[in-house]
Amino acid sequence: MAVATVVALAALFQPLVASRVPSHPNAACAVFTLPVPVSVQQPVYDIAHVDNDIEATQFAINADTWSFPQPSERVVNNITIDETFDISVQLCVPDEQAKRSSLHLATHGWVFDKRYWDVIVNPSEYSYVQAALDNGYSILTYDRLGTGLSDKPNAYTTVQFPVEIAILSKMTELARTGDILTLAKKSNHALPHVTFEKVIHVGHSTGTFLSSAVISLFPGLSDAAVLTGLPPNKYLNALKATSIGFKRSRGSWPSGYIAGDGRAFQVGFFSDRRNASGFGGFEPGLLEYGNSIQQPITVGEWQSSHSIPPPSASKFTGPVQYVVAEYDFIACLGNCKNTYTLDSLEALFPNVADLDVYIQPATGHGLTMHRGARVGYQATFDWLAEQGL
Ligand SMILES: *[C@@H]1O[C@H](CO)[C@@H](O)[C@H](O)[C@H]1NC(C)=O
Ligand SMILES: *[C@@H]1O[C@H](CO)[C@@H](O)[C@H](O)[C@H]1NC(C)=O
Repeated sequence: MAVATVVALAALFQPLVASRVPSHPNAACAVFTLPVPVSVQQPVYDIAHVDNDIEATQFAINADTWSFPQPSERVVNNITIDETFDISVQLCVPDEQAKRSSLHLATHGWVFDKRYWDVIVNPSEYSYVQAALDNGYSILTYDRLGTGLSDKPNAYTTVQFPVEIAILSKMTELARTGDILTLAKKSNHALPHVTFEKVIHVGHSTGTFLSSAVISLFPGLSDAAVLTGLPPNKYLNALKATSIGFKRSRGSWPSGYIAGDGRAFQVGFFSDRRNASGFGGFEPGLLEYGNSIQQPITVGEWQSSHSIPPPSASKFTGPVQYVVAEYDFIACLGNCKNTYTLDSLEALFPNVADLDVYIQPATGHGLTMHRGARVGYQATFDWLAEQGL
């Protein structure tokens, strides 16, 4: 057997190492810690502590019990979180100069960290980061508060949506002023000097919720939004907490950090149903990859997700694209077709330059880990180009 074949086979059988740093041959990338100051008010909920699996299960039962008081009925206090959080970011700038002053700022959803956007299994097919770089864009990804290499503060009072919205808006400012490049240099990372003139907010699931909140609250910070995996529709809150099989996160996670079980992970994030041409579904290795990068959520986030209405951005005038996974179980109870109307989406964004809906066929909620992912990314880049971005 030729040496090259042996090496290729060895690579194929290597276990997935989640911490491997992805390589992007046509770009300069830096992974570093960004200090992000925020000052924001948010509620303190009357909520039992979750320190073991029994308490995690009871937390889910309470959330689903019809007579149990809603989170909004259990606000005991409001506090101001006035803190600087360490956020782990990856910033990539392509060698090609034509479009690199346009920055994709991508926010991952629940259960993942920034590796959701940068799949290391067959990256030319699955990595959104690689696809953005190939299309000439710069791209910033980060671990949301409480995930990956970012700070893991109090799960009850601190890691909630208002703080996460404040972090995303502050990071957008740091990108626009150029401070983010200064901070990268301080961490000894050599990135080309680029002024980010345009910022395109990209979200997945909870990241879509946070991105649409930012364009709603701070419309001037964004030039466009690509909202994936969370079309507002009649099944959006249909998923029961008890069907996620919550357990206490293993390892050194603080109190109140919880995770779902493995089978629920496949149910929620993966669909193996293909369309009549054989498009869609997933390779088993991608389910394995998704499992290997799983992250906890916090009970505070669960509470805040159920007390804040989906944002509508009446003041946002840039273009918005919804990217819908056809067979999304979490967002649409397994099939997004006919669960919303274009009118209902337009009502949330009445003043946008353009509202586009792209449906990625035969794909589950974890869009970046299904066959044909790159076809969907290209639909986004083609639409952005039409918008002059
Ligand atoms: C907390 O703030 C919200 C929104 O400003 C307000 O409606 C609520 O009454 C406050 N709750 C308490 C207990 O202070
Ligand atoms: C399946 O999806 C692919 C990708 O969008 C598309 O090209 C193909 O026409 C679809 N096949 C059917 C039968 O809908």
